[in-house]
Amino acid sequence: MKDLTLPLMSNNIDRDDINCLIEFLQQEPIPRLTNGPKVVEFEEAWSDWLGVKHSVFVNSGTAANELSMLALKHLFPEGGEIIIPPLTWISDINSVLFAGFDPVFVDINLKNLSFDLDKLEKSINDNTRAIFVTHILGLNALSDRLLKLCIDNDLLLIEDVCESYGATYNNTKLGSIGFASNFSFYFAHHMSTIEGGMVSTNDDNFYQLCRSLRSHGMVREFNDDKVIEKYANDYPDLNQDFVFIGPAHNFRSTEVNAVLGLSQLDKIDSNNELRIKNFQHFVDNLDSEKYYTDFEIDGQCNYAFIVIMNVGDYKLRDRIENMMNKNGIEFRRGLSGGGNQMKQPYFRNHNINFNEFPSIDHVHNFSWYVGNYPTLEIDKIDNFIRLLNEIE
Ligand SMILES: Cc1ncc(COP(=O)(O)O)c(C=O)c1O
Repeated sequence: MKDLTLPLMSNNIDRDDINCLIEFLQQEPIPRLTNGPKVVEFEEAWSDWLGVKHSVFVNSGTAANELSMLALKHLFPEGGEIIIPPLTWISDINSVLFAGFDPVFVDINLKNLSFDLDKLEKSINDNTRAIFVTHILGLNALSDRLLKLCIDNDLLLIEDVCESYGATYNNTKLGSIGFASNFSFYFAHHMSTIEGGMVSTNDDNFYQLCRSLRSHGMVREFNDDKVIEKYANDYPDLNQDFVFIGPAHNFRSTEVNAVLGLSQLDKIDSNNELRIKNFQHFVDNLDSEKYYTDFEIDGQCNYAFIVIMNVGDYKLRDRIENMMNKNGIEFRRGLSGGGNQMKQPYFRNHNINFNEFPSIDHVHNFSWYVGNYPTLEIDKIDNFIRLLNEIE
């Protein structure tokens, strides 16, 4: 019998990638392995692919989130509020907290699974510093209205593109439009460096800050001689190899991960084409009486199928989950990060009125994502659609 099971992801690091790695490691003399020229080459290739000036390679998407927020704190040392969605990965929220900003949650809309813009507009005040948007599971969260709100209110836009790279807004790649953007190269994403992440930006100063803060806050990591000279003049009693601009982390990756990144980047566009086709086929054929299908999918680039029930029926939900378990269809309930992040233990006692967040509440309880990867066979997708559509 044909195997119609559906894993969340099939291994997206293939034999070609491993061969590139072996070739790199077999060089004589033994190549440098810590953050070095291959990292720079990968950063430059990534910037070219994305269409930005600068990129900083780090060891996870979480590190990319934290590095962005830490660098932002250098621009706003007084702190302030950052608007974030409750549907995101936990590191987006933690990074805001670790940097010393106050997270302000705004409910989502189902069409693009990002902010409800009416509610977002009401949340902006004099203390708001930035909007930290998450593009969910291949969808685009940007709109003319969101960009205008940022401009009119003098707010920086930080894009978390960990789940949507390759997706576009007005034919421009997500992650090249905001002030800075974050990417993850973890196993389940559009491409993988085993673990890894990237911060990208067009802003020279922000780039310099990210370089330094990636490496303990070291001044010698700035590649701007004027800044290095200023620190040397201001702190002549310090050994110039060890001057630190403030509390920071070690978020560096390695040459090994960068070699994998370069090899994976070569095939990201052809792989993404397959994912885009799969997702379009899935949405086109899903029963819209039972499931939400009215997504804004222009420019989507998805690594997971999104299933949202139209009706909040717990018994039907259990039958759908039993069906998926029985048929070997791996799933994650609640979409990114398991649904409503405000329900995590450390936010529950923050006096949140959950009635003000009906959309994330529905997604939290009545949605799943299921893997969409380049080698996925159409029979598996069709079988999954049939099982979903037939269930009563
Ligand atoms: C939206 C989003 N941001 C950040 C991350 C964190 O990335 P990583 O797992 O590489 O730390 C993820 C992880 O899946 C994510 O989905």
